[in-house]
Amino acid sequence: KKVVLAYSGGLDTSIILKWLQDTYGCEVVTFTADLGQGEELGPAKVKALKMGVKEENIFIVDVREEFVKEYVFPMFRANAIYEGTYLLGTSIARPLISKKQIEIANQVGADAVCHGATGKGNDQVRFEIGYYALKPDVKVIAPWREWDLDSRTKLLAYADKNGIPVAASKRQEQPYSTDANLLHISYEGNALEDPWEEYLEDMFTRSVSPENAPNEPTYIELEFEKGDPVALNGERLSPAEMLTALNKLGGDNGIGRLDIVESRYVGMKSRGVYETPGGTVLLAMRRDLESICLDRGEMHYKDEIMPKYAELLYNGMWFSPEREMMQKSIDQAAQHVNGTVRAKLYKGNVMCVGRKSPTSLYDVNLSTFEEDGGAYDQKDAAGFIKLNALRLRTLKRRRTDAGK
Ligand code: ARG
Ligand code: SIN
Repeated sequence: KKVVLAYSGGLDTSIILKWLQDTYGCEVVTFTADLGQGEELGPAKVKALKMGVKEENIFIVDVREEFVKEYVFPMFRANAIYEGTYLLGTSIARPLISKKQIEIANQVGADAVCHGATGKGNDQVRFEIGYYALKPDVKVIAPWREWDLDSRTKLLAYADKNGIPVAASKRQEQPYSTDANLLHISYEGNALEDPWEEYLEDMFTRSVSPENAPNEPTYIELEFEKGDPVALNGERLSPAEMLTALNKLGGDNGIGRLDIVESRYVGMKSRGVYETPGGTVLLAMRRDLESICLDRGEMHYKDEIMPKYAELLYNGMWFSPEREMMQKSIDQAAQHVNGTVRAKLYKGNVMCVGRKSPTSLYDVNLSTFEEDGGAYDQKDAAGFIKLNALRLRTLKRRRTDAGK
């Protein structure tokens, strides 16, 4: 009996590792993903070895490029935003973790997988729907829904009893619940549980506050091919390099902080604070390029399906056929999204100030207020407007006849 655990090397998943060995008596295989969370992963290996995990059962995989290229960029092609605000930074990482865990399970002959998400959140849903979609008969172990370590005191006591080291800082105050990857970092819980209470400045790790951002704007140029950013200020970058660079630029200019209350899939409202500096810059700039590259019908259709797409991702349905169908049409539109956008980043804002494209639909002869050389016949507009108004004229006559 083998189980593949999504293992961060942190306190919670270390406790889970031990608990799995004790409760299920099974061989534990650990999977630690480098998603760009900005933590050293070496210690995860040392810890796993210490807890008796065999060397060949420890998997540490750098998935940063795959994460950005196959998950983040496709999602950005949709301009996906949940409930008008959330850039889905955690939601989009979960399907990749599920996929890797199942790949490892298949490779080592494990029939079970395990994650460290609580029974109250979205993440359990996302992980597990991902597992089941890729390995229908897999056994899922969710310790937070099973064990009786239901308080911090009990968790710490369990760690102490089993020789799991606990950092002094973790013993004191309740920490924020955070999740980090190359796209974002999230903060929930602790003082944030009161939605009226403003966040504390010292919590942030990826951005300065707009107040402390430079007094001079930073100009950048972003080049896109088929809807994805490929070069920054003339330098070609891989997907992960690109997001890393945009994070730095955005963060330095106080961009991408978000404080929201969101509707969790399992039913409750939850207050979350997020830093998504690079994603916020990217979203604004690629949308700006779409304005010259996409036909109105394409653009408006994308806008119509976007909330549905975002909801599917939020609810863990990345592997659903309807998400794939939407992705196909979104990707088709993205074929024409080529060109360069220039923006200035200034104190929390992304201001697009120039755009150009070899596949542009913008035609100055059509839109000009000057002489257009016959490109557009203004007389055509009269009939166009009259037919559009026909219904309203008819209705008005009826109302007038009825004396209203
Ligand atoms: N509320 C966000 C979401 O549902 C972030 C969740 C963060 N997860 C975590 N384990 N801290 O996508
Ligand atoms: C968790 O419950 O583990 C984190 C919060 C969430 O998944 O929504």
